Amino acid sequence: MLILALETSCDDTCCALLEAGRTGFRILSNVVSSQIKTHAPYGGVVPSLAAREHAKNIIPCLQEALKKSRSENIDLIALTIGPGLAPALLVGVSAAKALSYAWQKPLVGINHLEGHIAANFIGRNSKFYIPNSNDVQFQNYGQIQFPAICLVVSGGHTMLVLMRDYGHYQVLGQTRDDAAGECFDKVARILGLGYPGGPAIAEAAKFSMFYSQFSIELPRPMLKTQDYDFSFSGLKTAVLYQVKNQPYKTQQSKNYIQSMCVEVQQAVVDVLVTKTIKAVQEFQTKTVLLAGGVAANQHLRQTFKHRLNFFPNKVNLFLPAPQFCTDNALMIALAAYLRVRKRRELLFERYPWQRIKPDSNLCLSSWLNH
Ligand code: KG4
Ligand code: ZN
Repeated sequence: MLILALETSCDDTCCALLEAGRTGFRILSNVVSSQIKTHAPYGGVVPSLAAREHAKNIIPCLQEALKKSRSENIDLIALTIGPGLAPALLVGVSAAKALSYAWQKPLVGINHLEGHIAANFIGRNSKFYIPNSNDVQFQNYGQIQFPAICLVVSGGHTMLVLMRDYGHYQVLGQTRDDAAGECFDKVARILGLGYPGGPAIAEAAKFSMFYSQFSIELPRPMLKTQDYDFSFSGLKTAVLYQVKNQPYKTQQSKNYIQSMCVEVQQAVVDVLVTKTIKAVQEFQTKTVLLAGGVAANQHLRQTFKHRLNFFPNKVNLFLPAPQFCTDNALMIALAAYLRVRKRRELLFERYPWQRIKPDSNLCLSSWLNH
């Protein structure tokens, strides 16, 4: 089955072409057009500018993604329908609907977070798409054993999800205020590190505390609570007050900024890893999945590897490659394939993701045997 996918929920215009079968898949294209330069001066994503950029970039991205196939060979068009910035989403929805109408192909609307989770099926040893290469090989899906605990950590969401099977999502807890990525982005703005904050903080946090002239301590919000909820706005405020209480010269000093980044990253990682492991223990799961842009963070990945290594029972850790953690359309194509294959309505608890109804022109039955 050949799937064209579009993703425009935030500040990346993404198109991908995926050939997916029962046992494996081939990544024919995975195009991401970033808008970082547009939003950087504002320290965050401006929805109206994001929509304008998507409208400008969507056709070139589609042209690039479609180089490897003719439109008549496409079986399905997948698109992100939320959550995300409404004006940004609308560009992808309009483009996908126009293509669906022109080519008379079915549409599948995909939840953005389900897309992030589906990135785990790309597997560990992916042979990535090589531009202009004709040698794009088939690879197997990641073999995920359920039940699994999935930590979804992005710019807009932080949640722990119990998955008893693919398509079964029980949200155990989520952030009560800021998401982990949002916390990184806001702290980076306070420290003058620019946008997006996560990669900037991760880069600055490579600094060794051995050379630090400062002893900085930040809270680990909700680390010890019995539930699976998170809260990161207090952490951001703690950084703000600690910075404000320093003399201007210290605030601007590289050593101080780097030391602060080490501590912020450690505080976020401590909370995320501790709560995920608590859930693994309570629900006796065999697998941990990481999903969303913050899952690209090397310190988070290393800490998970380290902690799960010392776990009494073997727990498989899935870490999508960093380029598949941040927004992309390949994950949307994969989620569409898995959904069509499973023929299941999604089950969501405690969180108002829409139950996605197939579009009127989607005829599932004709795709099930592909
Ligand atoms: O999933 P994503 O690309 O977009 C949303 O769905 O929100 O996630 C973007 C978020 C941003 O907050 C960004 O700062 C964060 O992911 N991020 C990172 C890293 N790369 C991206 N955070 C920490 N370390 C990284 N390496
Ligand atoms: Zn995302």
